[in-house]
Amino acid sequence: MTSTQPQKLKGRMFSVQAALPKFPVAPLEQTLDKYLQTLRPLVSDQEFEQAKKLCEDFKNGVGPELQAKLIERAGKHTNWLSDWWRNIAYLDVREPCVINSNPGVLFPRGNFNDLEGQLNYASRLIAGLLDYKVMIDEQTLPVEHLGKSPLCMMQYYQVLSACRIPRVNKDEWVCFPPDRPDPPRHITVVYNNNFFEVPVYGSDNKPLNTSQLKGQLEHVVKQGSKQGPPLGLFTLEYRNNWANAYQNMCKDETNRRSLESIQRSIVVLCLDQPNPSSTDLRTKSGQQMLHGAGSHGHSGNRWFDKTIQFVVGQDGSCGLNYEHTTAEGPPIVQLMDHCLDYINKGSDWPAADQVTTPKMLQFNLSSDVENSLNLAKENADKLVSDLDLKVFTFEDFGKDFPKSQKVSPDSFIQNAIQLAYYRHHKRPVGTYESGSIRMFQLGRTETIRSCSSESVAFTRAMLDPAVSDGRKAELLRRAIDSHKQYTNDAISGKGIDRHFLGLALTAQEHNIELPKLFKNRNFIFSKTWRISTSQVPAKSESVMFFGPVVPDGYGFCYNPQEKCILFGVSSFKSNDKTLPAAEMSELVANSLRDMKKVLSSSVKSSL
Ligand code: COA
Repeated sequence: MTSTQPQKLKGRMFSVQAALPKFPVAPLEQTLDKYLQTLRPLVSDQEFEQAKKLCEDFKNGVGPELQAKLIERAGKHTNWLSDWWRNIAYLDVREPCVINSNPGVLFPRGNFNDLEGQLNYASRLIAGLLDYKVMIDEQTLPVEHLGKSPLCMMQYYQVLSACRIPRVNKDEWVCFPPDRPDPPRHITVVYNNNFFEVPVYGSDNKPLNTSQLKGQLEHVVKQGSKQGPPLGLFTLEYRNNWANAYQNMCKDETNRRSLESIQRSIVVLCLDQPNPSSTDLRTKSGQQMLHGAGSHGHSGNRWFDKTIQFVVGQDGSCGLNYEHTTAEGPPIVQLMDHCLDYINKGSDWPAADQVTTPKMLQFNLSSDVENSLNLAKENADKLVSDLDLKVFTFEDFGKDFPKSQKVSPDSFIQNAIQLAYYRHHKRPVGTYESGSIRMFQLGRTETIRSCSSESVAFTRAMLDPAVSDGRKAELLRRAIDSHKQYTNDAISGKGIDRHFLGLALTAQEHNIELPKLFKNRNFIFSKTWRISTSQVPAKSESVMFFGPVVPDGYGFCYNPQEKCILFGVSSFKSNDKTLPAAEMSELVANSLRDMKKVLSSSVKSSL
């Protein structure tokens, strides 16, 4: 057990933790067969024959040796993947975290339009967070389930007081868990680019109540009236640039202490200045959450390295951004739903004793650091200006419709995305959907490869006027069933992408040459995720979004509600192959409508 896990699994939150199964190493043959199935719709007959041969060679060559070594590793670790995954998926990556990794979430718009309303909302939000934190600290959060299966709760335990630290070549991840001596008792508030250490517990160690929190925020606003240097822009930088600047900053003891205060804080709360008016307010607010809208917007008023960063604007726009190393969307969204519920409740708790006044964090910027900050500003503006985002709600129906048709809503929506893509690009591509493997100890995600032979047969039929609605409906149901089957396999440890990754990393660790299979063009093509998707359901009408993971790709995230579906869709403006996000969003909406039509008409015709 690493030092960021509880010293004792004492509460109901971890009541089943030790009994959760270990993430298995899938049988080699099963993974290879599945791989070929997912490759089939993406390549020609000839390429497919080559792929079959490469799989055979792997199976009869180095494959079993790698498999045996991987199984050996699995025997020694709680989860053979988790440490590797944290490095490969996050800490080793040198691209900016913003857009490429950190998702943004837009909350339902707050009912306020001035500073007073902003502070009221923000203080209720933080009170809700502290209310939730009690359940983490005391390990009393109910165990989350997926269907009937209990899930690993470790991400919940680590989600507060965690931070990423920029380092050359590989970042560091720190977490200050609640059951260690001297646990963090403050949040960081950023206002006008000024960073504040804001205590949120009294001298009696009790959480401040809403009016005390509001008092703290008023102090911040008073002290922070003069704009500070936009240091938050560093956290949108390429990681090595930021790591070098960070090293320079840390030569100064005052800077080092200020940075440590941010890293140790429970969360960051960004109080933003008003936004210019906009015709598409939701998308504009979405940008505010995803990247802060650049150096002329709010990006300097952020700390994207922090695991959870709440953002509250003055015009009712509010949401959050999170750094992905610590957790996936579901734990973040559950915490968010709790806070949003809390905001609407009237209740509060008694005042805590002797509140310590917020302290503005001081920074001394050398000319080297100033120069790095200028470069960070340039790079941040390029990054931000290239991202095209559309946030919208599909209102014709929600998951009620697919449920009424006895099909999985998630598989229905995934096929709508396949159809939307195919309509414009006229070819199938590798598609990533995140599936939770938290049924296993320390599990994170497995890829659900949503593009299948069945989804391609369906999308082709939809574009063919000669195919009857009845036949289209039949093909749609098959595509949905195939997706659901892959989902069930992926979440129960029978996916292929994490297994392949494990085998490749095993080769690397043992100085074994990377097998030909893994270097093959079609193998790489099959995992080039031009469509990157995730379902992140929430009780509230909130929506998550993230950037595409390849230059000619799209990001799709959705929150299916009973009567509507909230979407965040993204693409890159600089790519001339992809559509603007708003146009792709239209295609998704039309696909959902057309799919409803064929399913409904097929039911009528069979009555
Ligand atoms: N007939 C009727 N209803 C059905 C149905 C069917 N054939 N199949 C599913 N449903 C119902 C379910 O019972 C469920 O009902 P509820 O709304 O009352 O809960 C609902 O439809 C949703 O089910 P489905 O659409 O199949 O999705 P799911 O909840 O099983 O989720 C995944 C699928 C892949 C999203 C989920 O397994 C998962 O892994 N989630 C985590 C993803 C993640 O980590 N994302 C974050 C990355 S940052």
